[in-house]
Amino acid sequence: MRELEILTEEDKEALELPRTSVEQENAVGKRKLYIESYGCQMNFSDSEIVTSILQEGGYATTSNFETADVILLNTCAIRENAEQKVRNRLKNFNYLKKKRPEMVVGVLGCMAERLKTKFLEEEKIVDVVAGPDAYRDLPNLLNEVEDGHKAINVFLSKEETYADITPVRLNSNGVTAFVSIMRGCDNMCSFCVVPFTRGRERSRDPQSILKECQDLLDTGYKEVTLLGQNVDSYKWASEDGSENVNFAQLLEKVALVSPELRIRFSTSHPKDITDEVLYTMKKYENICKYIHLPAQSGNSRILKLMNRTYDREWYINRIDAIRNILGEDCGISQDIITGFCTETEEEHQDTLSLMEYVKYDYGYMFAYSERPGTPAAKKLVDDIPEEVKKRRLTEVIDLQMRLSFERNNRHVGKIEKVLVEGFSKRSDDYLQGRNDQNKVVVFPKHHYKKGDYVMVKINEASAATLKGEAVNS
Ligand code: 5AD
Ligand code: SF4
Repeated sequence: MRELEILTEEDKEALELPRTSVEQENAVGKRKLYIESYGCQMNFSDSEIVTSILQEGGYATTSNFETADVILLNTCAIRENAEQKVRNRLKNFNYLKKKRPEMVVGVLGCMAERLKTKFLEEEKIVDVVAGPDAYRDLPNLLNEVEDGHKAINVFLSKEETYADITPVRLNSNGVTAFVSIMRGCDNMCSFCVVPFTRGRERSRDPQSILKECQDLLDTGYKEVTLLGQNVDSYKWASEDGSENVNFAQLLEKVALVSPELRIRFSTSHPKDITDEVLYTMKKYENICKYIHLPAQSGNSRILKLMNRTYDREWYINRIDAIRNILGEDCGISQDIITGFCTETEEEHQDTLSLMEYVKYDYGYMFAYSERPGTPAAKKLVDDIPEEVKKRRLTEVIDLQMRLSFERNNRHVGKIEKVLVEGFSKRSDDYLQGRNDQNKVVVFPKHHYKKGDYVMVKINEASAATLKGEAVNS
């Protein structure tokens, strides 16, 4: 999954603070839980599951870590700097632990799974380590700590999908929500630590997904993002084998919940995205015309070394299918890694030329960061100097800025349907929301409010945002 790389100043402000739990009402007498999430959308979604499990276990959330009984960090291991951020954050809590030794510090998520008991050895402040499939065990693990022990559960499951747990929405705008449809990843891209930290791929029962979407709609939500490491390989079969559901079929079921509910999904894999998915998107107005399709590289030799199981031609074929079926306006975004093992300048140029071909609307771009235990770390040499990786990254980002600007300018003069998510970050006189292609649109408030669908005439575009004016409809 992904982190934002092209950011407006507003986005930057919002992202510098990790997302945290909020103050819960009627919390008198309960133990106070503070939870902070790092990394991908899946982690934010998991924190909502963790909060639900711990609320059942008698905890109440707080937005103030200074007074919390339990501090949990839901961590990311995808790149070295993601891990460094967590280690630095843990240092911030040292003074609190000195003042209140009974305060419990736990680490969850991918870094917990990767480091296991090493976390307890290396970071003395940590009392609890729980991997992504161990969250039901958290109340027990926290009890163990109360009894004076350190506690750890990093077992990975082949079945756990937390299907029956109703997430407690954290930092919610009350309009958009994540719905996890599957967990884990079976792909084994050579650079990626995720298959080791999140285990085997498993799909969640479609009925529980539909119920969660319906419940969200009933409580006023207007948009769901279906989440999975690789949503296109969603595959569910009933126990007696009489019913099979693939991703296109699931999308259709969710689209039919209500035409008022917008649907997004992430992340798609180029090897798995089918024409059936694209035709389903076309068929339903409420399925947003936006696809996040990580390329990683534009060069077939590098893609092979990355074990992505597709080559440049295959990727281009999928892009052509998107353009043919959904048209030029469908939003497409990428993930790209620069400076992967042995990447030459010509191969890097192939990535740039692929970007020019696709004309991505948006991108999440990273310099290669070797992760211990991955196939690339074991079999390949991380031989591209840091400054070369960074220079190539800058070239990729600069090109993406230009492409985003060009693509955003295509919207100028059009009237587009925007789902309002709240006030603009700069001024309460303006609202902000997203259009179909996932682009942020800012416009003067007038009488409109959060949760409204508003037709907005786009007047202005930057690489990051569209600005416009509501039109009477
Ligand atoms: N180094 C740099 N980027 C990585 N990603 C995954 N693993 C690594 C790594 N070792 C990127 C990929 C993926 C996104 C979520 O993070 O681009 O799609
Ligand atoms: Fe990692 Fe590849 Fe799975 Fe994405 S598809 S999580 S990059 S192994």
